[in-house]
Amino acid sequence: MISKRAFDVEFNVNNQEFMIAGKLRPQNEAEIEGLLQEIDKAAAQVRGTFFLNVKRLAYLNSIAFRALGRLIADLAKRRFDMQFVIVTSGVLGWPTRKFSSIAQQSFNVSIAEYDKDFYPGQSFLEDGGFIPILRTQTRLTWRHERGILPKHGLRAGMEIADICCGIGDFAMLMNREFSPARLLALDHSRSSLDYARKVAAEFGMTDIEYVHGDASGIMIDDNSFDFVTCRHSLQIFDRPELIVRELFRICKPGGRVYVTNEKISQCFGEPRGESITAAYAEVADLFAHFKMDLEFGPKSRRALADAGFDDIIIDSFTVANTDGKPEEFAEMVTAWEDVFINEMCRDRGDAPERVAMIQRGLQDHMKAALHPSGYAGWPVWAASGRKPS
Ligand SMILES: C[S@@+](CC[C@H](N)C(=O)[O-])C[C@H]1O[C@@H](n2cnc3c(N)ncnc32)[C@H](O)[C@@H]1O
Repeated sequence: MISKRAFDVEFNVNNQEFMIAGKLRPQNEAEIEGLLQEIDKAAAQVRGTFFLNVKRLAYLNSIAFRALGRLIADLAKRRFDMQFVIVTSGVLGWPTRKFSSIAQQSFNVSIAEYDKDFYPGQSFLEDGGFIPILRTQTRLTWRHERGILPKHGLRAGMEIADICCGIGDFAMLMNREFSPARLLALDHSRSSLDYARKVAAEFGMTDIEYVHGDASGIMIDDNSFDFVTCRHSLQIFDRPELIVRELFRICKPGGRVYVTNEKISQCFGEPRGESITAAYAEVADLFAHFKMDLEFGPKSRRALADAGFDDIIIDSFTVANTDGKPEEFAEMVTAWEDVFINEMCRDRGDAPERVAMIQRGLQDHMKAALHPSGYAGWPVWAASGRKPS
């Protein structure tokens, strides 16, 4: 990264991608002449498709926009054998609109709205249906996580970011138990953030910063937080490594990134173990259809290692009906059933027999949880790594 200016640029030759982040507000075109030359030079090294990634560009004035537009049109004309893709983020709204006008002028220039293409399961997770799931899940996992978080490096007085915070319950729990110096919670879903703010206000927690943003292009400076969490979310992206890269970037050297993920096919229960196992194998397949990898849990160690973390710690724990009230476990499975059956199976267009089989297995899981001598479990993997100093 080159960071003397109000913007940063990075050219990744392997991905054929030139990224511009920050703010572009020159007083005249000469001020960004260097940037234009860098883009031109990068494009000269590429064959096939050149990606101009502006998803972390927070501001662009009309001088810069005109100059970029001219450069892209000129490149598209000179290199008519190539495709030019401008990668924008739907979070800000304006970039897609603005850059679309450039794309319309050349047959070989197009726009890819990153979070839209990148996150096919968005509609399931961002509308209200997921709120009861996230509430119950966090209540159940917290019993385990509260104990293991210190082992993963969480201490009082830290600066913490919770990326993909959902409805913010985990942020509130960390705030209460670990008294951070700063706590920022970011998500892409406005309805979840509204909900999170409302709940935090009800509990008188005015110190959590809830921020709307895109985890794949976080508008936060490098090396900003001591402890960065991202729970149950790498598993919903089809390119989780890009999120891990952002978590790494915003973490301070010596700080840690903590992630949790599932391996849904490992959910178990007795009695009726076979029906339960068969149903959850189908659930893993259902998520895979929407490009979500709910089998990601044990892959977390590798994902952190590949991103450059050291001192990686990985734990797995099982949320079980015997942890507390069995009704709470059953409540979680009921919330799962609602979304899996009524939204996801329906959207995939599943045959009635297949839906019935999944539903039966989920209901058997609930029954196992509520059975006086039954045992029902949901395994979760928690992993963390240190960003080298
Ligand atoms: C499975 S939920 C997990 C929420 C929370 N971490 C928890 O454990 O309860 C995934 C969350 O990721 C959010 N999300 C999805 N795509 C995102 C993106 N590109 N940037 C930020 N958040 C995103 C969703 O809105 C959702 O709240």
